[in-house]
Amino acid sequence: MSSSKKPKIVVTRTLPDSVEKRLSDLFDTQLNSNDSPYSQSELIRAVQGADVLVPTLTDKIDAELINGAGKNLKLIANFGAGTDHIDREAAHAKGILITNTPDVLTQDTADFVLALILAVPRRLVEADMLVRSGKFTGWTPTGILGQRVRGKKLGIIGMGRIGQAVARRAHAFGLGVHYHNRGPLSAPIENELGARYWDDLDEMLAAVDIVSINCPYTPQTHHLIDAKRLSNMQTHGILINTSRGEIIDESALAKALVRGDIAGAGLDVYEHEPKVHPDLLTLQNVILAPHIASATLESRIEMGEKVMINIRALFDGHRCPDRVLPPR
Ligand code: DGY
Repeated sequence: MSSSKKPKIVVTRTLPDSVEKRLSDLFDTQLNSNDSPYSQSELIRAVQGADVLVPTLTDKIDAELINGAGKNLKLIANFGAGTDHIDREAAHAKGILITNTPDVLTQDTADFVLALILAVPRRLVEADMLVRSGKFTGWTPTGILGQRVRGKKLGIIGMGRIGQAVARRAHAFGLGVHYHNRGPLSAPIENELGARYWDDLDEMLAAVDIVSINCPYTPQTHHLIDAKRLSNMQTHGILINTSRGEIIDESALAKALVRGDIAGAGLDVYEHEPKVHPDLLTLQNVILAPHIASATLESRIEMGEKVMINIRALFDGHRCPDRVLPPR
């Protein structure tokens, strides 16, 4: 590529205006103005001749696409933190870099986890529906009784950036913080968070009242929460998932909720997203959100900034700061 020629960037979904404008100023950018996800064949066509692909979690960046992209493709600059929708081996085999947008969505995601941790035991959505239905006839001592949050034990699965941000908030709400992770945190961080490490996930699930999934989706975490682990949880237990739907066996979860094996769930992600298990749609003890844990305008703009910084770094001859592949 001659130095005067701008890199060709293909962006698969509509991004905030300011991000799209800056991307178009900096690069030869192809946007997707109607925001409908590309089909696999449209995506393959779209990346022909592209230097950089900017996908999101709704795109399946598989080997066929990567191999069909043409020899110019140097970087997949994902708009999002999770990169489980990208075939890393195929990218690696072609020498294509992958970057993501970590950090900038951590605090917003943790806020949303806390929103679910409060809203599920306090039955907030059910209460809202009662008022809207016109059936609210005045205060009663026994109306919409929930579970007290303060003093409960929260078990966090995955104590990375988001898990730790959840722990800080949970601590402030008077929850006991427990966690399962590939390894324990350093002693100073554990002390600051007042967190207890459990090497054995099954033991932690049996001991805590609320579980929050904050680990990435990998082949190892597929159906990490299955029927057996759900049955390990306490019957007043609540499960929160803002990570990836595939970490839970969704049909086992629906069964556990119907049977009352656990008391409730707060879900932002689904195993077959955007499809939701039909039983979950009928249950009152579940709050269902449309994958919005990180959805603030601020985070989306900062995610866009990260994408641009990574692309600029590459074409200016520097290492991309948010490299996922090759690993740092
Ligand atoms: C991510 O970044 O992976 C979130 O799930 C979407 O913002």
